[in-house]
Amino acid sequence: MAWLRRGLTISSLLSLGLAALFATAAGPVDVADARFSFCITCHGANAQGNPGVAAPRLGGLPAWHIDNQLKAFQAGWRGTAKGDEHGDVMRTMALALANDEAVRDAAAWAAALNAPAPAATLLGGDPTAGKALYAPCAACHGAEGQGQEALGAPPLAGQNDWYLETQLEHYLAGRRGFDPADSRGQQMRALAGTVSTPQQRRDLLAYLATLSTKAP
Ligand code: HEC
Ligand code: HEC
Repeated sequence: MAWLRRGLTISSLLSLGLAALFATAAGPVDVADARFSFCITCHGANAQGNPGVAAPRLGGLPAWHIDNQLKAFQAGWRGTAKGDEHGDVMRTMALALANDEAVRDAAAWAAALNAPAPAATLLGGDPTAGKALYAPCAACHGAEGQGQEALGAPPLAGQNDWYLETQLEHYLAGRRGFDPADSRGQQMRALAGTVSTPQQRRDLLAYLATLSTKAP
């Protein structure tokens, strides 16, 4: 403990104390946290996604993305447009989280769940054509579809293909990315124009499915 006797100052004591506090506040995530058990009624036991109620995979996605989207629902950037019934359901759920701390904890909880990467479900896509269509997307979403935190661009590999298809339709129809305050959504809405036909979207999703097999 020589370092203790030599180097102990008020400021090092303070920083030691703060580090301990942060470690406690961040804490290990309790995957059985009862506050969030209602989430799995729709998203599935490991939040692996449930097409029956159109609820996507959350387990294993990064906490920052889940946090961003819960706040987007709360702000009304998602789930308020006409024709977005599934978003409307999820917005009600997001509003049940009382404050930013609950949102943060819910995001950390969902990210910690161990959900397997989803299987491809959509038919009729050509992954070779999709690879070319994916090229401009890779700048933000990453060459492997792994996402990029600095841009708030979520992973696309590892997400349910049926969910991504719906979300692209939402951006194109202006049901997502319509609010000027939603800079991330607005950015993405402009990009959705590069896959404007249903066949282009199927091709792109067939390619993303090949990346999903490698996703965590
Ligand atoms: C009643 C069913 C239901 C419950 C309960 C529910 N969700 Fe959802 N959730 C959905 C549906 C449906 C969607 C898809 C919305 C859409 O298509 O825009 C969704 C979407 C999401 C998304 C967006 C994911 C993405 O990548 O865009 C997040 C994040 C999310 N839910 C988190 C949660 C969390 C955390 C809880 C618990 C606090 C929860 N959900 C409870 C139905 C539910
Ligand atoms: C300039 C950066 C950028 C580019 C390029 C880009 N995206 Fe995005 N994308 C984002 C951001 C940021 C978000 C989060 C938007 C939000 O919060 O609504 C997003 C969200 C998405 C979502 C919603 C995912 C979810 O879980 O909710 C899909 C699907 C998507 N992008 C597909 C694509 C495709 C396909 C392309 C190429 C045609 C593409 N993106 C190009 C930045 C980008």
